[in-house]
Amino acid sequence: MPHLVRGVVARQKGAPVSLETVVVPDPGPGEVLVAVRACGVCHTDLHYREGAINDEFPFLLGHEAAGVVDAVGAGVTSVSAGDYVVLAWRAPCGTCRSCLRGRPWYCFDSANAVQPMTLEDGTKLSPALGIGAFAEKTLVAAGQAVKVDPAARPEAAGLIGCGVMAGFGAALNTGAVSRGDTVAVIGCGGVGDAAIAASAIAGARTIVAVDIDDRKLEWARGFGATHTVNSSRVDPVEAIRELTGGFGADVVVEAVGRPETYRQAFFARDLAGTLVQVGVPDPSMTIELPMIELFGRGGALKSSWYGDCLPSRDFPMLIDLYLAGRLDLDGFVSETIPLEGVEDAFARMERGEVLRSVVVI
Ligand SMILES: NC(=O)c1ccc[n+]([C@@H]2O[C@H](COP(=O)([O-])OP(=O)(O)OC[C@H]3O[C@@H](n4cnc5c(N)ncnc54)[C@H](O)[C@@H]3O)[C@@H](O)[C@H]2O)c1
Ligand SMILES: [Zn+2]
Ligand SMILES: [Zn+2]
Repeated sequence: MPHLVRGVVARQKGAPVSLETVVVPDPGPGEVLVAVRACGVCHTDLHYREGAINDEFPFLLGHEAAGVVDAVGAGVTSVSAGDYVVLAWRAPCGTCRSCLRGRPWYCFDSANAVQPMTLEDGTKLSPALGIGAFAEKTLVAAGQAVKVDPAARPEAAGLIGCGVMAGFGAALNTGAVSRGDTVAVIGCGGVGDAAIAASAIAGARTIVAVDIDDRKLEWARGFGATHTVNSSRVDPVEAIRELTGGFGADVVVEAVGRPETYRQAFFARDLAGTLVQVGVPDPSMTIELPMIELFGRGGALKSSWYGDCLPSRDFPMLIDLYLAGRLDLDGFVSETIPLEGVEDAFARMERGEVLRSVVVI
């Protein structure tokens, strides 16, 4: 029997989100029904509401969640009812050309639930990143539900489902930050701070946090930044060079998603340095760079989707680091809010008042 639950829906581009009754089917073959316990508010949810991802309104928002498996469909063996899981927006298919080449973290055909969740009038909802977890229950593909240690509280654990994993993996998986490296992170929200925390764990010797908001820079220090730069007051490229012996950083993570911050990241690298773009741009944005600099500086310009992570490998690892006190997931949780609070949380995110507002159900 379908489940009627409350969920946060973006009906139209730019319009405030609303709390709606969502119809969630029982899990079919290969699907899992999850009772959501907590779900973080990520900037990508706001991008969806702004119509900056695609036009497939209405969206069921929320994609950074931990919960408990309610029921599993036919053929599901990886999890069972009662398991504590973090939801992943990448569930490698195992058969696409990337999976077959042994690179499942780029999977080009990641699985989602097949049955749609709908409004009461039957309108199909597009779940954000194939998850849709600002809801009491959600339906996902079995591979999206990754079992983790229940000792990690859901408010903290859910955050590795998107922002923390994206930033952590951008630094370590995509950027290959290693001991002794110099790193700069432009944009110190939840994603950027996770890149900072990861760089500290990997043994980077210098970690420069760049943001336009002093509060964010203060928090970035708490995650392991060795230096901070307010780029609304000083030229960040110059500042990063100065802090890295005049050379620029080995790895620069761009965690804003704007042309000007991409340019800063490009020029703030040392020769042969790596730029990792993790910030999501608006489809209208373009960037122009001198081609001789692209060639002459060498190195690598990469983008990082979901931190090039393999959820089944990386989620339990991040939870272990958290439980050992080495990754401060609690430090990302600025506040907990009810489902009704998502619209106001977007405003606080835009004003820079929070790292993560976390919906608790
Ligand atoms: N690639 C992925 O897989 C992935 C996953 C999750 C989020 N994202 C994207 O990463 C970006 C960051 O997400 P978040 O949740 O941390 O957002 P956030 O809003 O919490 O943080 C963004 C930060 O950038 C700062 N900022 C804004 N303009 C700036 C500028 N010109 N220079 C320097 N800093 C500036 C803000 O002050 C803020 O601290 C977003 O674009 C989001 O969509 C990407
Ligand atoms: Zn695949
Ligand atoms: Zn996200």
